[in-house]
Amino acid sequence: MGVNVAVRTVQSSHEMLAAQELLAHMFPHHPGAALDSDRAVRYRALYPDQADMMAVAVTEAGEAVGIALASQECTGARVILRGLGVHPSVRGHGVASRLLALVEQGAIRRHAPGVTLGSVDDAVGFYLRMGYKAVLLVQFVAADASAEEAVTAALAGPLAGYACLRRSYNGIPQLFVQVGTVDMDFMRRVEQEVPSVSVGWVTGKDF
Ligand SMILES: CC(C)(COP(=O)(O)OP(=O)(O)OC[C@H]1O[C@@H](n2cnc3c(N)ncnc32)[C@H](O)[C@@H]1OP(=O)(O)O)[C@@H](O)C(=O)NCCC(=O)NCCS
Repeated sequence: MGVNVAVRTVQSSHEMLAAQELLAHMFPHHPGAALDSDRAVRYRALYPDQADMMAVAVTEAGEAVGIALASQECTGARVILRGLGVHPSVRGHGVASRLLALVEQGAIRRHAPGVTLGSVDDAVGFYLRMGYKAVLLVQFVAADASAEEAVTAALAGPLAGYACLRRSYNGIPQLFVQVGTVDMDFMRRVEQEVPSVSVGWVTGKDF
């Protein structure tokens, strides 16, 4: 049975806060996943021209039951999906795919080359179903010589034979590992065998 939920862009700061609260409940241990109230309102003020990439799902009673929040830092950049969540009571009815489609329409309208996001492990399958491709992000913890040793150990160890793109974030090395399939065992092996790393999936779609 379907659910009667409207999916549209966020229309007020109040609605933005309600939707953000939903995200905060879903990710209580993930402070970066949801913005606090002040930041949420500022976020909308910061990107007034990007309201078309802030999507909300609302019931007939006006309750926010889903949100997808994306932004583009500058013209020509990829759109980053910063948060997506659907209330458990309406999951499995295509709400998230409609939210994501709205964000993608906004991204295409602004000629972004694609959409990227860091996914929680449990949701990677959803993005794959939506046509996204996944890479494994191996984020090293320190910027010092020990990180270089860890990079070398990773490339000679569990990542041997994989195409890896090296980048850095605030001077700290990162490896984006090209994988054919999303393999959680492989991810855990990298986590266990390489010291001081955080490992997760980054998914994206190119237009
Ligand atoms: C992941 C989530 C957003 C999916 O929302 P949803 O509204 O239930 O998703 P949809 O109904 O639009 O699903 C669309 C398709 O993806 C599939 N799908 C949904 N969640 C999936 C998952 N976790 N893994 C694999 N496939 C999934 C559905 O089966 C459906 O497939 P179908 O078209 O073959 O029927 C929702 O479960 C959620 O909010 N989870 C907690 C928060 C979260 O993980 N957010 C993502 C952060 S990166």
